[in-house]
Amino acid sequence: MKAVLLAGGFGTRLRPLSCTRPKLLFPLLGRPLVDFQLERLAQSGVDEVVIAVHHMAEILMAEIGDERYGIRIRYSIEQEPLGTGGAIRWARRYIGDEEFLAMNGDVVSDLDLRSLIDFHKSHDAAATIALYEVEDPRRFGVAVLEDDNRIRCFVEKPRDPSVGRAVNAGVYILTPDVFRYLPEQGACAIERTAFPKLAEEGKLYGFVHKGLWLDVGLPPDYLRANFALLDRQGSFISEEARVSERATVNPPVYIRRGAVIEEDAHIGPYAIIDQGVWVGRGARIEECVVFPFAHIGHHASLRGAIVGEHARIGRWVKVETNCIISDFAKIGDNATLISGVRVCPYKEVRESIFEPRIVT
Ligand code: GDD
Ligand code: MG
Repeated sequence: MKAVLLAGGFGTRLRPLSCTRPKLLFPLLGRPLVDFQLERLAQSGVDEVVIAVHHMAEILMAEIGDERYGIRIRYSIEQEPLGTGGAIRWARRYIGDEEFLAMNGDVVSDLDLRSLIDFHKSHDAAATIALYEVEDPRRFGVAVLEDDNRIRCFVEKPRDPSVGRAVNAGVYILTPDVFRYLPEQGACAIERTAFPKLAEEGKLYGFVHKGLWLDVGLPPDYLRANFALLDRQGSFISEEARVSERATVNPPVYIRRGAVIEEDAHIGPYAIIDQGVWVGRGARIEECVVFPFAHIGHHASLRGAIVGEHARIGRWVKVETNCIISDFAKIGDNATLISGVRVCPYKEVRESIFEPRIVT
């Protein structure tokens, strides 16, 4: 089977970290998000993936290349963003007239793709979508299911949360029939055009997934996805990392090669320290993801934050929850950043910031 992987979104809700890298290259335990998707596709017997790209296409193409995990990779490049529906329609020239898998690139899950394919084959569906139950469906597409797993109606981003709690998990098996339900040209969202109509006509089925599922849309989701994988995988400290015997390591932690943790530092729980990161004496890092080659000064304290590549955090700096320090940004010694401060790439902050804002 072939697959289309949607990777052309702007990652707006992850700004300013997404100003310098596409969402699919955000690291999860040090590996780009797209690798998790491709690895799962390979394990499920998919032999060719078309990645639908637009925003930062060149970075994605250079990083992913033509082959991964034994899968041939092709790119469907959009001159204008075509939306999820338009992107799938445009990628069709590589798929031909067969059933195929399509998925949002920004979802982390342990959904069993083989079971989804088998389920689809055992029903007379034009399309089958994977569903997942959430508390609040308003950020997602909601499917209302009949007893026989047929979807009675589909509503994208409902205002009223009482519609239902089974949401579109962003993984589909589509038949060529679906293209009749998409406009022939222009940008469109498959969730707003094809799915509601297919549901109305009784041709859309839902396969309920239980287990791990997260959409990496917002910074807290991105942190959560990392922590969920860390919980599953357990702690890891590379033999090529240098962790002082006098540092305190509270599991679970993930410390990659070339990282240096100096004495009296407190790392974890839930600290993902990527390669080449330097953590100074007495620094504290808890519930954070720190991208490669960041520098955390002596006695700095970070909790619930994301620190970008090559960012420099000065001595005695305090960074509170939901802060984002983007790539190459600098925070001067002794500064405090209150919860929710986001610093753009290459910017320098010299003084404390006591209101949640974006430093541009
Ligand atoms: N090629 C291409 N072109 N890809 C796109 C475009 C585009 O114009 N727009 C979005 N994408 C990609 C994004 O990169 C992402 O991987 C995927 O399509 C979904 O887009 P999001 O922008 O992340 O959508 P969402 O999270 O608001 O909602 C979607 O995902 C939810 C589950 O995570 C919908 O499919 C919802 O129904 C669903 O519940
Ligand atoms: Mg999304």
